[in-house]
Amino acid sequence: MALSKRKKRLILLLYALSAALLTTIVVVLMVVLINQQNDFRHTFISRCEGFEGYDCKKLWKVFQQAYVGKSACKVPVEAYDPLLAEAPIQPACNRMMFWSRSKQVVHDFTEKTDCFITLEDTLLGSVLDGLSWCGKENSKETFTNNCPGWDECENNPVRSFWKKASAEYAHAACGGVTAMLNGSISPPYNSSSIFASVEVPRLNSTRVNSLTVVLVTQENSVSNCTNGSFEVLQKDLDEGIKYKCKEVALSWLQKCGSKPNPTCGPCW
Ligand SMILES: *[C@@H]1O[C@H](CO)[C@@H](O)[C@H](O)[C@H]1NC(C)=O
Ligand SMILES: *[C@@H]1O[C@H](CO)[C@@H](O)[C@H](O)[C@H]1NC(C)=O
Ligand SMILES: *[C@@H]1O[C@H](CO)[C@@H](O)[C@H](O)[C@H]1NC(C)=O
Ligand SMILES: *[C@@H]1O[C@H](CO)[C@@H](O)[C@H](O)[C@H]1NC(C)=O
Ligand SMILES: *[C@@H]1O[C@H](CO)[C@@H](O)[C@H](O)[C@H]1NC(C)=O
Repeated sequence: MALSKRKKRLILLLYALSAALLTTIVVVLMVVLINQQNDFRHTFISRCEGFEGYDCKKLWKVFQQAYVGKSACKVPVEAYDPLLAEAPIQPACNRMMFWSRSKQVVHDFTEKTDCFITLEDTLLGSVLDGLSWCGKENSKETFTNNCPGWDECENNPVRSFWKKASAEYAHAACGGVTAMLNGSISPPYNSSSIFASVEVPRLNSTRVNSLTVVLVTQENSVSNCTNGSFEVLQKDLDEGIKYKCKEVALSWLQKCGSKPNPTCGPCW
């Protein structure tokens, strides 16, 4: 059965249209991929340039070498050794704040008072805070979508970076250090947290003389300073580091932190 001329033309037109559509889709996908990569690079460099005295383009290169071309679950902590060697964590004695399960509250507090710093205030911590990234085998690209989640695999690029940076942050700590923990969870000191597994074991009594736990409490709090997990914390601490625990109500923290406090007098 021969097709009429009109039908043939229609079929040809449909072929041409679908080819055009396919090409458009491929081009759009490529543009999205390139933009993803450029947006991430741009964020990295522009955040980095907020700090003085660093070669941000070089840091970007060294950073990429940790994960580019690797499968997203095969980036070990050591992959970031060169990056941390290029931009070591600067110690700030008596001002270093640690946190676990209290990120928002800690940063609201430290931003307002300007008396403490957290890892996210250091160059690398600030550059990578809130970002997600990974590479792929046989690819030179940086991806920001569909990267493994924090708990999806142990050696993912984001988790390994934070473990390395946290280790260096704790290693650099000196004087009196403070840790804000969450009284609404149990146990507040959890051995599988970065704070317990990476940071506490690296506080060295030759440099750190005290650790003050600020346990932030709310109406729904379940834990206080007598919680058994704090006995584990004291065992984990290097001998010679004095330990203190203070229960501080969130409402008080917010009130105290919002007042001008030029001398950095304590809120606890
Ligand atoms: C403690 O954890 C709970 C549950 O994740 C959260 O809702 C609360 O805001 C946290 N408290 C602080 C002080 O961060
Ligand atoms: C400690 O934290 C991990 C990860 O958030 C969680 O899965 C685990 O249940 C916690 N441990 C305890 C004893 O609650
Ligand atoms: C603390 O530092 C000293 C000297 O640098 C070292 O010998 C010691 O092993 C360190 N202790 C811990 C707990 O890291
Ligand atoms: C601390 O919590 C325990 C229950 O975990 C409770 O028995 C105790 O009274 C609390 N202590 C204070 C000082 O609130
Ligand atoms: C306190 O710490 C212990 C761990 O020693 C834990 O099993 C317990 O559930 C914690 N929480 C409360 C609210 O007592």
